[in-house]
Amino acid sequence: MIQLQHVCKTYGEGERAHHALRNVNLTINDGDVFGIIGASGAGKSTLVRCLNLLERPTEGSIIYDGRDITNLSGKALLELRAQVGMIFQNFSLFQQRTVLRNVTFPLELRGEKKEAREARAHELLELVGLADLAQRYPSQLSGGQQQRVAIARALANNPKVMLCDEATSALDPRTTASILQLLQNINRNLGVTLVVITHSLPVASKICNRVAVIDQGRIVEEGVTAKVFSDPQSPVTRELLSNDSLLVETEQNVEAGEAK
Ligand SMILES: Nc1ncnc2c1ncn2[C@@H]1O[C@H](COP(=O)(O)OP(=O)(O)OP(=O)(O)O)[C@@H](O)[C@H]1O
Ligand SMILES: [Mg+2]
Repeated sequence: MIQLQHVCKTYGEGERAHHALRNVNLTINDGDVFGIIGASGAGKSTLVRCLNLLERPTEGSIIYDGRDITNLSGKALLELRAQVGMIFQNFSLFQQRTVLRNVTFPLELRGEKKEAREARAHELLELVGLADLAQRYPSQLSGGQQQRVAIARALANNPKVMLCDEATSALDPRTTASILQLLQNINRNLGVTLVVITHSLPVASKICNRVAVIDQGRIVEEGVTAKVFSDPQSPVTRELLSNDSLLVETEQNVEAGEAK
C-alpha cells in the first residue's frame, strides 16, 4: 500500500513560488490500477515523480507498506527506485544500446552477471512480445514496440509498483489498446500495482479500478472509476467529462483496435 499524507510540492521560492501539489492525501492499494487524471499543468507528473522521489515533497510524507520513505537517500533510495518501475510518454530508451542491452541496464547497475541478466532480459522480451527483436536499436522500432522495451526494462528488477506517465499518449488508438492490454496483464498476472497518469478519460475508464482527479495541485475527487465517471461529484470532473467530446469516438477506436 502506498499512502500520500499531506503532500505539498512547491517549485521556486517567494514571489516565484509555484504550488504544484497542495495537501495531497491518497491511498493506493496493492494490486490497484490507479488512475490520476487532470488537465495539463494540474500536477500529475509532479505527483508520480514524488512516488519514487524523482521529486522530493516540500511537506508531507510518502509511505510504502507503513514505512516512511520521504527522506531516504543513498543506497536505501536506490533500493526503493528498484522497487518502483517507471515508463514515460517518450519511451526514454538508450538510443545507443540494443533492445536487449536496454533491458539488461537496470541489472548491470545491480551488478548482475552477464549471463544471468541476459537470460532475464530474454524472459522479459518474451513477456512483452518482442523476443525476436533483441538485437535491434530503438530507432528501428515502432512507437508501440519501443514502449514494450521500456516496459520490459521497467520490470527488470521485479518492481511491486509501476508508474506510467502518459505511457500511451504518443501512440495511435490501436497501439494504445495493445499496450493497455499488456499493462493489464502485468497487473493481473504479475500483481504489479500500476499508477497511471493520463489526460485520456477512455484510457482511465478502460484500465483503472480507481481514479483521482487533480486540479491545480489538489485532489478534487477520488473513487471507483465507474462511479466517478457516471456520477461525478466535483465540477472539475464534470468539466473534464464534458470537454472530452472525443470520449465516445476514441473509445470506439480503442475497441476497434483491440478487435484486430
Ligand atoms: N521543475 C519545475 N520547476 C518549476 N515549475 C515546475 C517544475 N515542474 C513542473 N512545474 C510546474 O508545476 C505544475 C505542475 O506540473 P506537472 O508537470 O506536474 O503537470 P502535469 O499535470 O503533469 O501536466 P501535463 O499534463 O502537461 O504533463 C505546472 O504548472 C508546471 O509548470
Ligand atoms: Mg505531465
